[in-house]
Amino acid sequence: MLLITNIKKLILAEEKPRKWVAGAGMAVLPCMDDAFLLIDEGIIKNFGTMDKAPIVPAGTTMIDATGRMVFPSFCDAHTHLVYAGSREIEYSDKIRGLSYEEIARRGGGILNSTKQLHHASEEELYLQALTRINELIELGTGAVEIKSGYGLNTADELKMLRVIKKLKETTPLTIRATFLGAHAIPEAYKGRQTAYVDLLINEMLPQVAAGKLADYIDVFCDKGFFTVEDTKRILTAGLKYGLPGKIHANELAFSQGIQTGVKYGALSVDHLEFTGEEEIACLLPSETMPTLLPGAAFFLGMNYPPARAMIDAGLPIALASDYNPGSSPSGDMKFVLSLACIKMKMLPEEAIQAATLNGAYAMGISDTHGSIACGKTANVFLTKPVPSYEFMPYAYTTKLVDKVILNGAVIPRSPQI
Ligand code: NIG
Ligand code: FE
Repeated sequence: MLLITNIKKLILAEEKPRKWVAGAGMAVLPCMDDAFLLIDEGIIKNFGTMDKAPIVPAGTTMIDATGRMVFPSFCDAHTHLVYAGSREIEYSDKIRGLSYEEIARRGGGILNSTKQLHHASEEELYLQALTRINELIELGTGAVEIKSGYGLNTADELKMLRVIKKLKETTPLTIRATFLGAHAIPEAYKGRQTAYVDLLINEMLPQVAAGKLADYIDVFCDKGFFTVEDTKRILTAGLKYGLPGKIHANELAFSQGIQTGVKYGALSVDHLEFTGEEEIACLLPSETMPTLLPGAAFFLGMNYPPARAMIDAGLPIALASDYNPGSSPSGDMKFVLSLACIKMKMLPEEAIQAATLNGAYAMGISDTHGSIACGKTANVFLTKPVPSYEFMPYAYTTKLVDKVILNGAVIPRSPQI
C-alpha cells in the first residue's frame, strides 16, 4: 500500500470517470487541493482532501508531497519509437535547404530507417528502444502506443512487432502495438503500389494476427503515399482480424483520410494539419479521436493543425509525440504540452486533458488510464514544487517531473551522469 499526503493539487481527479472530454469541457480541469492519494496493489484505491485522509496499516509506504502536484501519467497514443539508429544527417541537409524529395533521392526518409532496421538485430533494436522508453518514463509517460512501419517486408515488420511485444512484457509502461505496414512503398515495389497492398493484406496481416502481435492497424493515407482506395482495403482487412484503425491522415494535403478513417470506425485519426470545415463536420458525430502531433509540425517547420477551431466546434483532441527519427525525434510530452499551448492556442487545461485522458482513449485504454479515478491503474507522477499547473507548459525546458509511480510502484531514478 502507498499513501501520498499533502498534495498541493491532485490533477484530473475524477469522481465519475469519463471516456473522453470534448469541446468546452476540455478547458475545465477537475482538480482537488490539499489532497491525499491511496494506492493498493497497483490500483488507485481512494483520493480526497487531507481532512479525510485514511489511517493506514503499519508498513504502508508514505510520501509527503508538500508543495508538489500529482498528475496522471501522460498517455502518448502515437509513436514510432522502435527504430534503428538516427537520421541527423537529413536534419542538417534540411537546414541547408534540401527538399524532402532530394533527401529521399539521396536515400533518406522512411526508407533510410527501413535500411538501418533491416541490418539491426532484434536484440539491438530492443535495446535501443528500451533506452528511449526509460527516458520517457522519467519524463512522465505511463502509456505509449508504438507502431511498426520501418520493416516494409514481412520478416522485418514481424521483427519490429516482436520487439514491441518484448517491450510490453519487460517494461512497466502500458504499451499498445500498431501494425503500420502501409507506412511507405518499399524500394522493391516502386511503381507497384497495389501489389504491395496485396502483400500486406494477404501475407503480412494474417501472420501479424496469428502471432497476436498488434492491437491496431495504421495506414499513411496522404498525398504521395497510400490512396483512399488502399486505405479502405487495409482498414477492412484489419477489421476482419479484429484490428481497428488508427491512421495517419491529412498531414500533407486534404487527403480524405479523416473521412475514410471515420467511415471505417477508426479509433483515432492522427496529424490533421489539413483539416477544414468538412473534416470537422465529419468527426463531430463520430467516436474517432482526432490526435494532434505538434512535435512533427515543429520539427518540420509545417503549419500546425487548427486545434482551436476543432475544440471550439465541440470536438475532443488528443495530443501525442509522434516520437520517430524523421519528423519528431523526441517523446517529451511536457514539451508537447508547451507546443500545444504556444503554437495551437490550446489552454493548459485543454492540453493536459488531451495528453492524458483523451490520449488514453486514442489508444483504447481510457477505462483504466488517463486520469486519477478509483479503480484505475496507479500510473501517476509527482512534480517538483511548482506554483501552479500552468507552470508545466510555461516552464518549457525545466525538468519538473520528479517522482514517477507506475502500477503503484515508485520507479527508481536512473543515476545522473
Ligand atoms: O508520423 N507521416 C508519416 N510518418 C512519420 C514520419 C516517419 C519518418 O520520417 O521516419 C510521422 O511523421
Ligand atoms: Fe506518425
